[in-house]
Amino acid sequence: MNNKSVSLKVQNVTKTFAIPGGSKVVAVNDCSFTAAPGEFVTLLGPSGCGKTTLLRLIAGFETPDKGQIFLNDASINHYSPQNRDMAMVFQNYALFPHMNVFKNVAYSLSIKKQSRSMIENEVKEALKLVGLEGMESRSTGQLSGGQQQRVALARALVKKPSVLLLDEPLSNLDAKLRIQTRYELKNIQRRLGITTLYVTHDQEEALFLSDKIILMNNGIIEQIGEPAEAYQRPATPFVAKFLGSANFVKGRLIRQDGHESVMEVLGQEVSVRSEINKNQSWVMVRPEHIRLVSRNKEDANKENCAIVKRAHYLGIWIETFLEINNQTIVARILAEPGSRVWDVGDVVELQIVQGGIHPISNVTEEMMAAEVASTLL
Ligand SMILES: Nc1ncnc2c1ncn2[C@@H]1O[C@H](COP(=O)(O)OP(=O)(O)OP(=O)(O)O)[C@@H](O)[C@H]1O
Ligand SMILES: [Mg+2]
Repeated sequence: MNNKSVSLKVQNVTKTFAIPGGSKVVAVNDCSFTAAPGEFVTLLGPSGCGKTTLLRLIAGFETPDKGQIFLNDASINHYSPQNRDMAMVFQNYALFPHMNVFKNVAYSLSIKKQSRSMIENEVKEALKLVGLEGMESRSTGQLSGGQQQRVALARALVKKPSVLLLDEPLSNLDAKLRIQTRYELKNIQRRLGITTLYVTHDQEEALFLSDKIILMNNGIIEQIGEPAEAYQRPATPFVAKFLGSANFVKGRLIRQDGHESVMEVLGQEVSVRSEINKNQSWVMVRPEHIRLVSRNKEDANKENCAIVKRAHYLGIWIETFLEINNQTIVARILAEPGSRVWDVGDVVELQIVQGGIHPISNVTEEMMAAEVASTLL
């Protein structure tokens, strides 16, 4: 299969829906991003944040109120879905139930009136790509969920689209198959070099698959970044929490020397890798960047000591909820053979790893008070 390596640009796109009762919902609000040729870009966000709407706008199934969509810098706003050179895989697969695997995959080629032998070759190649060789004559009702998902993928790939749009294509698979299929999907996408826009609300899937993640919340893009960048340097509390667990604590800048900054956080000095300005006081600490050291009960009131409120063994991790300065902090320690699960009431010293804090910008005290309170749950 060839690849046409096309760039996709979404520029200031907005879509509002009228809902019964006369009100409106802004499903996609002034969104802009670019997917470079061959790039794997993921739209990640909670249910209802506008992911499917954005995908449907790009595919041409919806019309934007405002904004432009470009392929290789040419606007495609007025193109019908059939003329956009894209293929979409829907969350529920949307296979044709009365057709066998061959006919499902061949559908887009047969309506283009291509020759029988060419269609057979293309279908065979597409089924091979997704590991379903020899399944041509099976009825789609005789396939497992994972096989149906792969038929849907083959049906999209056989079109040799310039852009592949995938709407939560793995969401109905069990955990093991999901991991296996995402691995296969990434290999296929890399091999074909198709510019891909993938929708999910699963952060691990997004981190695994993507060259670039777009974090959406309430129709708005909160951050665009490479997986490690978004995880380590989230732009907003929402991004910090959506990509993993996060503690938010107050810090104080005590030294700044060129790019090297040191803040006092939870009674200790911690270096900051990210850029910081003097007005920033809230920082994010990932639970896995906190170490715990046993202390005596008398140390309970020391600035850097906390009381264990609950602790859980989670296989890979031991997760410990701690109280310090009337705030709940979560620490996650790798569970090694013989690792200790702390008892409720134990006193521990918190040690944040150097570089393990990230300042959070543009937040108000009220916003952060609400974030801190939500960790109590
Ligand atoms: N045809 C429609 N008419 C009215 N409102 C709509 C329509 N389609 C979507 N919406 C609303 O737009 C918002 C975004 O919906 P969308 O389906 O894009 O979310 P999503 O991020 O894909 O969510 P999910 O993860 O649950 O699939 C929601 O509030 C939804 O109710
Ligand atoms: Mg959706």
